[in-house]
Amino acid sequence: MTSRLYIEDLSNHIGEQVTLAGWLYNKRSSGKIRFLILRDGTGLVQGVLVKNNLAEEIFNKFDELTQESSFRMTGTVRKEERAPGGYEMDVQNVEIISIAKEYPISPKDHGVDFLMDRRHLWLRSSRQHAIMRVRHEIIRSIREFFDTRGFTLMDAPIFTPAACEGTSTLFETEYFDLGKAYLTQSGQLYGEAGAMAFGKTYVFGPTFRAEKSKTRRHLTEFWMVEPEVAFNDLNDNMDLAEALLQHIVANVLKNRMPELTSLERNTAFLENVAKPLPRITYDEAVAILHKKGLPFEWGNDLGGTDETVISEEFDRPVMVHRYPSAIKAFYMKRDPENEKLALAVDVLAPEGYGEIIGGSQREDDYDLLLGRIKEHDLPQEAFDWYLDLRRYGSVPHSGFGLGVERTVSWICGLDHVRETIPFPRMIYRLTP
Ligand code: 4AD
Ligand code: MG
Repeated sequence: MTSRLYIEDLSNHIGEQVTLAGWLYNKRSSGKIRFLILRDGTGLVQGVLVKNNLAEEIFNKFDELTQESSFRMTGTVRKEERAPGGYEMDVQNVEIISIAKEYPISPKDHGVDFLMDRRHLWLRSSRQHAIMRVRHEIIRSIREFFDTRGFTLMDAPIFTPAACEGTSTLFETEYFDLGKAYLTQSGQLYGEAGAMAFGKTYVFGPTFRAEKSKTRRHLTEFWMVEPEVAFNDLNDNMDLAEALLQHIVANVLKNRMPELTSLERNTAFLENVAKPLPRITYDEAVAILHKKGLPFEWGNDLGGTDETVISEEFDRPVMVHRYPSAIKAFYMKRDPENEKLALAVDVLAPEGYGEIIGGSQREDDYDLLLGRIKEHDLPQEAFDWYLDLRRYGSVPHSGFGLGVERTVSWICGLDHVRETIPFPRMIYRLTP
């Protein structure tokens, strides 16, 4: 591949003649001077066409170019603070590659459904561009965090024989002669096998939930990163979650400030993530709800509104630990101090974003775990391999899952997760 120049590298080419390739973002004319704004995926640059300096045939290509037409533009680079992107090009040549048909997305306001139906095109807009770049930075930071701390990536299968997070939210499919298979809700159980093999592992991939939740926090397909560490207890687990969040947020603030600015994100709450994250028990969380006059009953799960009210007490993410075991998954270890509690932790993001991380210390006792599998009416055969992890050298261990899309939504300050993933899957959306 020949080395191609991109707009983001223009600062190293001031005064040089260069060629850029991309799409027409916008154009405007003021008589003898015309402006073509080119986008190439890394930024915008304004090309200036001066009638008196150009062959008529080149100057007139301006008229042919429609929004999103592809073309090459050659000219000399200049710094120009007032231009979109900060650089301008004195254009010497324009080469049209493909003239676009009338583009459906115009700068005027469109409804979300209209835009979602054209998601494949909407991704070209500057707002979606900023969100996707923040998403990429978050994913890159997650991998960097674990890869530089001795964790081994151990991807889990997507077709699974049984539920991990509760049977009511499974997508099922026929699997040849073997009966039913289910799309994974979480790679955790496989992550636990990984932890017993490698000590520190993480699973990172798409996960699926068939619950009929139509909220701004729910997708049917989302990405989750799940570290699992042998010999970690609940406190170690919270330390790990805290360090991961701090690493992610610090990187986004360092590397994606222009994107956060273009999203008009107030970064004050993000800056606070560098400080230690508060840790409260479920009991203390319930006390906050009562103090604020909510009629919450001990033993219930925290709903979206409850999470919002609790998180409003804090200026950064808060960890809530030791939930009633009755509302938590079968694999969670009970608190030795109080049988009614599970050694679970959820991290609630501030500003009403709710749960971004869920995790726990795992039940490592064979008999207790077998009992839970029976209590939860789970098919024992499907969990026999999982029980092996308690038969052969069981150790205390812990892990958690961080939802990528909820994290993107919070860090970007969006009001719905649908814009945090390139092609969202929700109850009412399967296309494009
Ligand atoms: O709390 P959850 O269900 O935990 C688990 O799946 C554990 N097995 C993880 C583990 O311990 N390894 O999900 C974890 C996170 C949530 O905190 C949330 O960020 C995200 O996954 N999540 C969703 N994100 C978008 N849409 C949904 N429907 C989600 N359900 C969970
Ligand atoms: Mg959860």
